[in-house]
Amino acid sequence: MKAMVITQYGGPDVFSETEMPDPHPGPGQVSIDVTHSAVGLIDSFIRRGTIPIFEPPFVPGLEVAGTIRELGEGVTEFRIGEPVVTLSLMSLGGYATVTVANAALTISLDGFKVDPALAVSALPNAAAAYLALTKVAHIQEGENVLIHGAIGGLASAFPAIARSLGASRIVGTVRTASKLEAARELDYDDVILAEDFPSAIANEKFNIVVDPVGGDMLTSSLDLMAPLGRALLVGNASEQPVNILSNTLWFNNIGVQGFNVGGYLLGNPSAGRPAAKAVLRLLEEGKLDIPLTILPLQNASEAHRRMDAKEITGRIVLRNEF
Ligand SMILES: NC(=O)c1ccc[n+]([C@@H]2O[C@H](COP(=O)([O-])OP(=O)(O)OC[C@H]3O[C@@H](n4cnc5c(N)ncnc54)[C@H](OP(=O)(O)O)[C@@H]3O)[C@@H](O)[C@H]2O)c1
Repeated sequence: MKAMVITQYGGPDVFSETEMPDPHPGPGQVSIDVTHSAVGLIDSFIRRGTIPIFEPPFVPGLEVAGTIRELGEGVTEFRIGEPVVTLSLMSLGGYATVTVANAALTISLDGFKVDPALAVSALPNAAAAYLALTKVAHIQEGENVLIHGAIGGLASAFPAIARSLGASRIVGTVRTASKLEAARELDYDDVILAEDFPSAIANEKFNIVVDPVGGDMLTSSLDLMAPLGRALLVGNASEQPVNILSNTLWFNNIGVQGFNVGGYLLGNPSAGRPAAKAVLRLLEEGKLDIPLTILPLQNASEAHRRMDAKEITGRIVLRNEF
């Protein structure tokens, strides 16, 4: 197989196109002929070594779409050639023409009219949103939701999922005016500029805050939270620390909880399929149509350059053109 290998921690140019032996699935795994691999900001953190979970050289890539190539021992629920998409895999390996995945975290697209590039862009993050909103925030019918970095890869999956779970009012923030229009195409009732936050919505209260940005965005959100409000810390795109005074939580009856879908599914793989099932219908109905940029797999460096430069609206996907 061909793979885009990270040879050392560093900038977007550390990728090397490499010929490697095809991987074969172990028990409970499948191998996948990859058609598309999603790129997320976490891939940049892993590439730079900010999240040092693997020592170079390694093949990055947490989420792929493709077709089943081989079944590992004990896997009976797929047929060879079946179209699939994976949820977020902590094992990496997605920037390759063949990868292996935990079968329990592999979702069949059989019978669904879904473009694989969109599926790999939206489904893993939408499943993360579903799990975060149901298992952590315990969202209730009629609640108000505030989502920061509203058109980012992860955040853009949240409004449709929150709406499907009964959210009443959903407000997003974006940093640049050029991204307002794209965010307004999603299921937000209102999208405001981060520079106008919190003053533009200072008279509102939110039951749930979804924050993939970190830093001051979360700290400034605490004053807007309704009693018994839950803030979900789901990322740190700003790479800034979040400073929260414990008394603020105590006095205001509010809470902040982290959620990381890859780590969660590693320990709870059986939670993946029900979450994916809940979001597949929305995907097919076009309710998760987030903006996509598609580049050849060979252009992993360029994809990472754009990701680092914050040039992406929605998601960026690598297509296998080998
Ligand atoms: N919890 C999970 O399971 C999970 C899953 C996937 C990703 N993540 C994490 O979520 C975060 C976002 O990942 P992603 O792939 O969605 O990245 P992304 O597509 O680059 O989106 C990041 C968003 O954050 C905004 N942003 C960045 N820096 C900011 C700042 N200083 N102030 C305000 N807004 C800022 C960006 O706004 P602009 O568009 O205006 O630049 C963009 O909308 C990362 O930390 C990633 O590791 C977590």
